[in-house]
Amino acid sequence: MAFFKFAITLLLLALISARISLAHPGIGIGWGGNGQYGGSFYGLFPQFYQFSCPQVDNIVMSVLQKAIARQPRIAASLLRLHFHDCFVQGCDASVLLDDSAAIVSEKNSVPNRNSLRGFEVIDEIKAKLEEACPQTVSCADIVALAARGSVVLSGGPSWELPLGRRDSRTASLSGSNSNIPPPNSTVQNLIASFKRQGLNEVDLVSLSGGHTIGVARCVTFKQRLYNQNGNNQPDETLERTYYFGLKSVCPRTGGDNNISPLDFASPAKFDNTYFKLVLLGKGLLTSDEVLLTGDVGNIVQLVKSYAEDDELFFKQFAQSMVKMGNISPLTGFNGEVRKNCRLVN
Ligand code: HEM
Ligand SMILES: *[C@@H]1O[C@H](CO)[C@@H](O)[C@H](O)[C@H]1NC(C)=O
Repeated sequence: MAFFKFAITLLLLALISARISLAHPGIGIGWGGNGQYGGSFYGLFPQFYQFSCPQVDNIVMSVLQKAIARQPRIAASLLRLHFHDCFVQGCDASVLLDDSAAIVSEKNSVPNRNSLRGFEVIDEIKAKLEEACPQTVSCADIVALAARGSVVLSGGPSWELPLGRRDSRTASLSGSNSNIPPPNSTVQNLIASFKRQGLNEVDLVSLSGGHTIGVARCVTFKQRLYNQNGNNQPDETLERTYYFGLKSVCPRTGGDNNISPLDFASPAKFDNTYFKLVLLGKGLLTSDEVLLTGDVGNIVQLVKSYAEDDELFFKQFAQSMVKMGNISPLTGFNGEVRKNCRLVN
């Protein structure tokens, strides 16, 4: 009887898997890790590693837990890494590639140089995954998983994360310079920049809420303190006390690498305080402040609604993160699964 049940189970499994791979050949990639399957449907889906690397999320989370316990800020750095990956030729781990004969690294772009962090944590996750499931989990998926895990471990929302991204064999320094909006952007610049990636104003506001954790260097907000409009005057939208505090960490000359929290009230906690601060004139970057003063469409209304309702913010942030994570992934036969996230195979 027991054997009979076992045989039936095997038969059912065989039928199910045959059906799945006939209907959705893309799923086959998840099974064999590096398998080659024909077919035209290669969407991302949460169960991509269900059979080829079921431990993937546990491994990611255990490395993150230790890294964040050592240094809470690393959660913020890993969240930002995913953003800077996805905005440049899609979420394809292009941002992780080091300079080499064939690669001009994005790590030297204006937004990334002396700024982007978290690469060692990604390396550590990759090394553990290569031991557990060799050549199976892409670096692009690791970055997406690390971003989600970092938000969760900082007290923010979780979400079902579509997986199956593959890694690029190229990087784009010029794309990194042109696609990632600068901190002194106007709200119109921000809207246009997000729109180029298929993201709308709701995504712009909710994802700006990522600034609820982490820090920025003095050089990224100095213009606001001393010369906002080329008139040697500070940005008058800055709340006074906050402004004096910022001047003490960010002098007119020098101190470019001094840091200040993006959400000084709770810099390591993922919550909706960022929006409350923006409403009080205590947003750190011009790009934060213009969500209040830019006066375009329903942007201010969105800031207010997230400031009032943290659940609404969490829900929308999760949705927008999935949307950002779906920007032009490489799937199917495209790209590769890198062995080392810093190098093409
Ligand atoms: C809306 C346009 C955005 C602009 C103009 C912008 C700009 C910046 C700048 C200038 C910094 C500081 C970098 C430095 O000092 O070296 C920063 C930090 C950060 N950004 Fe953004 N950002 C934007 C959107 C986002 C998005 C969409 C996310 C993620 C959802 C994000 C997450 C972060 C995080 C977590 C940090 C802190 C990183 C750390 O402490 O290492 N940002 N951002
Ligand atoms: C933003 O900063 C850059 C670099 O400092 C500068 O060239 C540009 O004019 C600034 N843009 C605005 C709108 O202030």
